[in-house]
Amino acid sequence: MSFWNPVTPQTQYYTAYAKSIPSQEGKSIAITGCTSGTGKVLARTCGQLGARVIMLNRLSSRAEAALQELLDQGFNALLIPCDLQDFSSVKQAAKEIIKQCPEGLDVLCNNAGVMGINDIATRDGFDVQMQTNHLSHFLLTSAIWPLFEKAAAERGEARIVNHSSGARRGSPLDAAYLGPNGGALGGDGFPGIGRWRRYQQSKLANLLFTYGLADAIAEHRPTFKDNIKSLCAHPGPTDSGLQSKTTKAGGTRFLDKLILWRTLRSAHSVEDGTMGILRASCDPSVQSMDFFGPEGRGKAGPAERLPAERDQDAETLLWTESLKAIQQTSFFPTNT
Ligand SMILES: NC(=O)c1ccc[n+]([C@@H]2O[C@H](COP(=O)([O-])OP(=O)(O)OC[C@H]3O[C@@H](n4cnc5c(N)ncnc54)[C@H](OP(=O)(O)O)[C@@H]3O)[C@@H](O)[C@H]2O)c1
Repeated sequence: MSFWNPVTPQTQYYTAYAKSIPSQEGKSIAITGCTSGTGKVLARTCGQLGARVIMLNRLSSRAEAALQELLDQGFNALLIPCDLQDFSSVKQAAKEIIKQCPEGLDVLCNNAGVMGINDIATRDGFDVQMQTNHLSHFLLTSAIWPLFEKAAAERGEARIVNHSSGARRGSPLDAAYLGPNGGALGGDGFPGIGRWRRYQQSKLANLLFTYGLADAIAEHRPTFKDNIKSLCAHPGPTDSGLQSKTTKAGGTRFLDKLILWRTLRSAHSVEDGTMGILRASCDPSVQSMDFFGPEGRGKAGPAERLPAERDQDAETLLWTESLKAIQQTSFFPTNT
């Protein structure tokens, strides 16, 4: 422990809460970004609860080790390579998920994220944070859409869960962040707010996507409006690997250190930070558009159902610009 690295918090709520979740046997649950942090805890818990866990990770020794951990515990798990910085990898992953899930997909948890990364473009030309955190999840959800309809028709329900952040607050959605403007979105120079503004926009996008998707299902797929649920959670400040990755990626200015220190000072354990996505993915009592997280700005605590944060104009902007980015005119398949 040091001034900049406070002590690792103990888990307070997760263990008892996870025990209250019923068996997930018979379900297939796909999770992006489960090599570490909240995604890894969710993957382990879903395995314990009897689900088939589809781990959507970019290939690395971390991804192999995370898969092996689940297999060693006797859980039903498989790894499908999926690099969210690359649309072609996401499309390839979608094809593989479709192949692996002829019985449909019960839950997709769009968990993966990067935070406070430099102002660089992906190979597709978008901001690395916006593409990883939102655009690729938007593309993935669209590309495997028929699997949710299949699961809902055969087993009564399917869910899409997005992982936002307390950092979603700050500025209204700006279309520039969703366009092919990677490398030209505020830079990394003084005063250093650019990397945090890009993260804020991507985490706001996660929540707006949740509401936009629920509305789009009601309009274009009305049969599924009650049983394909679009949900969101935010973990609250959580002591995962995320903060050290920001530092490694160049977030070393005073402002970066201050933001990371404030997060870690009030953070809870990775398990407690996973409560929201576990609730949204597996709790039988959820309703579409539910948003779970600790209450209070920048505070840790158990995941509660939070008040909705609707903004129709921002949701429409998000939808239009995201479709443009993935070069589609429709989110849902047009031939079914
Ligand atoms: N920790 C917090 O305080 C906090 C607060 C608010 C919101 N959140 C959100 O919570 C979510 C989980 O974060 P965490 O705290 O658990 O952090 P984490 O431990 O760093 O986990 C992030 C995961 O995302 C994956 N990922 C990153 N880039 C990827 C890419 N291009 N393709 C595929 N996977 C990629 C990482 O995999 P690799 O091993 O391949 O890098 C890792 O598995 C994120 O969406 C984050 O924004 C966290």
